[in-house]
Amino acid sequence: MARIFSGVQPTGNLHLGNYLGAIKNFVSLQSQNECIYCVVDMHAITVWQDPSQIANNTREVTAAFLASGLDPKKSLIFNQSRVPQHAEIGWIFNCVARIGWLNRMTQFKEKAGKIRENASVGLYVYPNLMAADILAYKATHVPVGEDQKQHLELTRDIAQKFNNDFGIEFFPIVESLIMKSASRIMSLRDGRKKMSKSDLSDFSRLNLNDDANAIATKIKKARTDSMPVPDGSLRGGDRDSRPEAFNLLEIYSALNDQAIPNIQAAFGGKPFSVLKEALIEVAVEKLGPIRKEMQRLLGDKAYIEGVLSAGAERARKIALPIRDDLFKILGFIQD
Ligand code: AMP
Ligand code: TRP
Repeated sequence: MARIFSGVQPTGNLHLGNYLGAIKNFVSLQSQNECIYCVVDMHAITVWQDPSQIANNTREVTAAFLASGLDPKKSLIFNQSRVPQHAEIGWIFNCVARIGWLNRMTQFKEKAGKIRENASVGLYVYPNLMAADILAYKATHVPVGEDQKQHLELTRDIAQKFNNDFGIEFFPIVESLIMKSASRIMSLRDGRKKMSKSDLSDFSRLNLNDDANAIATKIKKARTDSMPVPDGSLRGGDRDSRPEAFNLLEIYSALNDQAIPNIQAAFGGKPFSVLKEALIEVAVEKLGPIRKEMQRLLGDKAYIEGVLSAGAERARKIALPIRDDLFKILGFIQD
């Protein structure tokens, strides 16, 4: 049995990319594996977060987990700051990872923007904390979207270097679980940019708390090119020249669990308005119940917080002995 770990930041605007690229897969993994899913509040504060919002956002991610089908009896669900081992092991990894490795991280370059000097040090060492999240539990598999691949390679490098430096097979070398489809959902306004929580345009994404009207309006307004829906005669390379068209096909495919060639067989050559109508229908059908259940759960703060606190207690029980073993290997004097 594999041990699965993944995290989602409580930074608001949970969207379809988070659902299809990550949360939906968390759910399908939970019946066969031991799963640990974390709302990573300490990662969130690597860029400014309003303290009055972070609790709401943490509850919102938790509600999205539960509404999508995660069962707190099967999967362990908690918020990161409650389990001190993440930060402790994160510090150790700050001393294992090399500056050169972090300098290659593309997400830092994107998030830090033009004036890198002003970015927080936390944003720079973010991948080390992510490695600590995973390895605090000696997790073996990590389901994420494509954008996290480089961070998982860094996690492997950290584990490998630690094991080599201390001459012990202590940390596992984790495998990423990046699904072939829907691992990179693109913006509805620009097929070359990924759908993201921080895009200034709300029309760029379908939020998990959008109602049927908002879903319909956003899909209708989604950018396409002037050609009809691509038919099966198109080759893979055409994806690059028609990114918006393939993004809509990809979204339809993932929401409806139907292969892209089948969708092309049904819609190829037709105007995009026809595919959009069908997409609106399936999006409302699949996302509507999740939204409704999220709202119900968010009305019951005590329940959500109970899930997080019970999850944190179980998480600490797993992470503490691993941290103790780690400190022993490092040679620290302990109680
Ligand atoms: P974040 O919102 O950055 O905490 O991301 C949470 C999870 O959603 C991670 O596994 C990401 O890789 C995944 N994710 C975020 N945006 C997208 C996207 N546009 N397409 C697919 N997966 C995504
Ligand atoms: N960096 C991830 C993201 O932005 C979130 C994350 C933090 C994570 N720690 C993790 C994902 C550990 C997987 C495993 O999407």
